Amino acid sequence: MTGRSKALVEVDDVHVNPAFRKDVLAGLAQEQKAVPARWLYDDEGSRLFEAITRLPEYYPTQAEIEILQRHGDAFRRLITPGAAIIEFGSGSSLKTPLLLRCIEPAAYVPLDISGDFLRASAAALASDFPGLPVYPVEADFMKRVHLPAEVDHLPKLGFFPGSTIGNMIAPTAVDLLRLMRKTLGPEAQFLIGMDLIKDPSVLHAAYEDAQGVTAEFNLNLARRINRELGGTIPLDKLHHVARWNDTWARIEMHLDATEAIEFEVSGCRFSMAEGETIHTENSHKFDRRSQFMLLLAGGWTPLERWLDSQGRFSLILAQATRPRAAP
Ligand code: AVI
Repeated sequence: MTGRSKALVEVDDVHVNPAFRKDVLAGLAQEQKAVPARWLYDDEGSRLFEAITRLPEYYPTQAEIEILQRHGDAFRRLITPGAAIIEFGSGSSLKTPLLLRCIEPAAYVPLDISGDFLRASAAALASDFPGLPVYPVEADFMKRVHLPAEVDHLPKLGFFPGSTIGNMIAPTAVDLLRLMRKTLGPEAQFLIGMDLIKDPSVLHAAYEDAQGVTAEFNLNLARRINRELGGTIPLDKLHHVARWNDTWARIEMHLDATEAIEFEVSGCRFSMAEGETIHTENSHKFDRRSQFMLLLAGGWTPLERWLDSQGRFSLILAQATRPRAAP
């Protein structure tokens, strides 16, 4: 997943993304400082996230791969034959080939905001699956996407692995699910990865790993602010923390000031007291009921749900909800 915007303006010879500057300045002015998580994903952030997915403590990737490997027969039975798979935020996914191998789709449409990433992974995939038409689409899936005309006549399966949906607060998640339903059409199916509520110590280890890769991923945001927005944030005075928020069932990433600091960003002054934080990411975790409620609110009726052998992660197959009269 990447969050780069193409709209750049030049200020004092420095390329500034106005949306990034607006979000950072507004977020740092709030009582609880916060920067939207999508800005974590510049090139370095995307590279660090890939490294996170290979960490022993970061169970979601291994668990989701296990589900894809174990339930091929069920996918073949339940997924409409000859579908076009539309993968939202394809990145350099390891998971896609597992799905492609078991359901033999008619076409594959990887969709990602990062064109370079997208073209490289689409080319690799096309060479592994020589008979499969691949139509990469460079687009931001948070906005309305137009699918290639070549897949118009095919049944659609949306694929949204990794529990990226968990990085959104509920209203944003519902809006996105509804938008995806609009993109995919009224007969579509949807296969979505959603992480599960579990012992906070397991979550803590996954989001505050021993090698410090997640800390680097988080601190990279402050580094990016300094580089792209003329910031003077003292990086050595910020410390990565992952906190379980039981009320909202989410693990949060924060940058915690180890002592009182003052800094500038784009000419604006900010200060943080010791222990004050910048909130940089939410990763919501679900149980069966909260998953189903979210999917139903987003216009998707769950059909089947699979867990990995340790019950840590789930993959849900859903069908676009048919309009019907109340109640
Ligand atoms: C992309 N997303 C699903 C990851 C997650 O687990 O919420 C991002 C991440 N943040 C820290 N580690 C991984």
